[in-house]
Order: sequence, then structure tokens, then C-alpha cells
Amino acid sequence: MTDQPILQLSGIRKEFGPVKVIHGLDLEIAEGEFVVFVGPSGCGKSTLLRLIAGLDDPTGGDIMLEGRRVNTVPASERGLSMVFQSYALYPHMSVRKNLSFGLENMRLPKDQIDARVASAAKLLQIDPLLDRRPGQLSGGQRQRVAIGRAIVREPVIFLFDEPLSNLDAELRLQMRVEISNLHAELGNTMIYVTHDQVEAMTMADRIVVLRAGRIEQVGRPLDLYNRPANRFVAGFIGAPQMNFLRGTTDAGTGSLRLDCGLVRQMAFAEGLTGPVTLGIRPEAIGVSLEGAGDLTVKVQNFEQLGSVTYIYTAFANGETLTVQLPQQIPLRRGQEIGVTLDQRSFHVFGGEGDRALTAVG
Ligand SMILES: Nc1ncnc2c1ncn2[C@@H]1O[C@H](COP(=O)(O)OP(=O)(O)O)[C@@H](O)[C@H]1O
Ligand SMILES: [Mg+2]
Repeated sequence: MTDQPILQLSGIRKEFGPVKVIHGLDLEIAEGEFVVFVGPSGCGKSTLLRLIAGLDDPTGGDIMLEGRRVNTVPASERGLSMVFQSYALYPHMSVRKNLSFGLENMRLPKDQIDARVASAAKLLQIDPLLDRRPGQLSGGQRQRVAIGRAIVREPVIFLFDEPLSNLDAELRLQMRVEISNLHAELGNTMIYVTHDQVEAMTMADRIVVLRAGRIEQVGRPLDLYNRPANRFVAGFIGAPQMNFLRGTTDAGTGSLRLDCGLVRQMAFAEGLTGPVTLGIRPEAIGVSLEGAGDLTVKVQNFEQLGSVTYIYTAFANGETLTVQLPQQIPLRRGQEIGVTLDQRSFHVFGGEGDRALTAVG
């Protein structure tokens, strides 16, 4: 990033009395980026967004917006708009009034307000709903109005806190695409919070993976998928989840020995000798119905979706292995099949924080 970041967080800490929620967090966001904060429930996503919005004060650290320290600037003067999971619309006002109300409070001229409302309504295709009340709208329409209310304020940054969590699966998918299109059209900086890794993968320019108030990794979606920095990120990004198998490394002999029986020559730059976890994604595993391959597993269950087959298997030692195949194959429960684990697809995690080890040679 050569240009000045639109938002810069340095050493951000947040404590609620004795409860430490954010533990010294640094992050820069460039103008126009779509950044997604993702992490399990309770990891501090909403807290962080509220600190950026100015709805809460940090215990420590600096928030710089367009190069200006805004720690003490009230929310209403930061030029940001927030969209919540609960749409927070005014039930007794029409959609039109819900959109215009904030601008009227800002004492914008009426013709400007009308123009902004009309343009947002057109963009979100809610113009036929302008005279209805929120109670007369579906969940998806309500969320569109809530987004419209953010748009008319022409914010420097849009902040979204799990805006799609109340919608059913089909509508969620549709709104995901709409918000992505909106970002492409408006070009504004957007920060989007979710616990759903699929939303993060599909919408983000950059993903920030949070866990217990700390950043685990920041990167483009496929970089996180292909090169997770640690076991937590590896397990969080991707569905079905990456398989994890127990094993040990021996730096002396340069070998990796798995509890399920596989032994490979593999050396690591970290020179670690001791317990490790092998991670391998379900699609990186080959299958042989004749039992050929590296190891034999027993089919416990399977799902035939037509375009893809998921096979849930177990090794003799009880460890499980999920396989994803891009084709249809005949299977039955209890059947023994051979599996091949491609070493080029190995992620080996070990040491403090279960960090990804660097294979050498
Ligand atoms: N006002 C508060 N007082 C005390 N603890 C809080 C408060 N707000 C949030 N927390 C705690 O901070 C942690 C992070 O919460 P939150 O940011 O809402 O998580 P997320 O949005 O990632 O689910 C949680 O453990 C939550 O209980
Ligand atoms: Mg939250």
C-alpha cells in the first residue's frame, strides 16, 4: 500500500472492566477495499467494528481515519455508516422516511435528500416499496432498506455487522451477490463482519481472521485457503473442513510419521522434533475402490450430491478422513477403500500456536 490507508488501527485494546476483549491489534485498510472480519462467535468482531464506528471507546491504541486520529471524535462526526443484523428500522415510518430521516436531521436541502433517496432506492430496487412501512416488508426487503439508509449518508466507509444472519439460506446467497455488486458499483471502502467463512471467501478482497481478540492471519481469500498460517486458520477456512491427522516429526532423520500409519520423508526449516498435525484438504485425497494407494480406510458414511461426492471415512486407529471427489462413484457403508495423500498438498502444523511449518528439500 503506497497511498495513505483510509483506516489505520494501531495497538487497539478494549477491556470491559476486568474482561480483556481486544489485545493490541494492528491493521491498515486501503481506500476502496472490501475487508471481511471473520471469526467464531465471541472473538471480538462486533466490538472492533463498534470501536471503528465510534460507538465505543478503545482502552488503548489509536484509530486513524483518513490520516486523522478519531479516538475522541463522536460516531456522528466520523462519516461512517453501519448496517446491523437487526435492521433497526423505525417501524412507524415509511420506507421513504426511514431513508430520509437521518439526512433531514443533518439539515440537508430537500432536493438533495430526494435525489439521494431516489438514487439509493433505484440501486437497491426498492422504489416500489417507498410508501410501505417496515412491517409490510419481507426480511430481505428490510435489510435492503437498512443498506439504503447507509448508502444515502454517502459514508467514507460502510460497516456491516452480520447483516445477512437473519435471512434464510437462499436469500443470504442473493444478498451476498447484491452487496458485492454494490461494492463494485459504489467503490466505497467496506468492512464486513461475519462468522460465516463462505461469506468471507466470496465477498472479501482481504480477510482478517480473528480469534479471541487477536488477528490470526490477514490475506486474500485464496491465500488463506492455500497457505493458512496456522492450524486455526486452516480449520476455519474451507468446507468441508481440512482433515487433521496426528503425527510426529524427527528433524534428525527428516521424517514425518503419522499415527494412522503413513511415513514420509519430509524435512522442515524449523528443525522441529516432536508432535505435529498434518492438515490435508478433502479434495487433495485420491481414492481407489480396489484398495490401492497409501493407506486403507473404511467408509462410514457418504453424500452423493451429483456434482460432488463426500466420503466420510476412518482409519483403523479411529482417526477420521473426509474425502471430496468431483465425480459420482458407487459406494457402500463399511466398504474398505484405498486413499492416496499427495505430499504436495500437505500442511504440517506444530510448535507454539500450531504454526504452519516450512517444508524444505
Ligand atoms: N459491554 C460488554 N461488557 C462486557 N463484555 C462484553 C461487552 N461487549 C462484548 N463483551 C464480550 O466481548 C467478547 C466479544 O464480543 P463481540 O465483539 O460481541 O463478539 P463477536 O461479535 O465476535 O461475536 C465476548 O466475550 C463478549 O461477551
Ligand atoms: Mg457480533
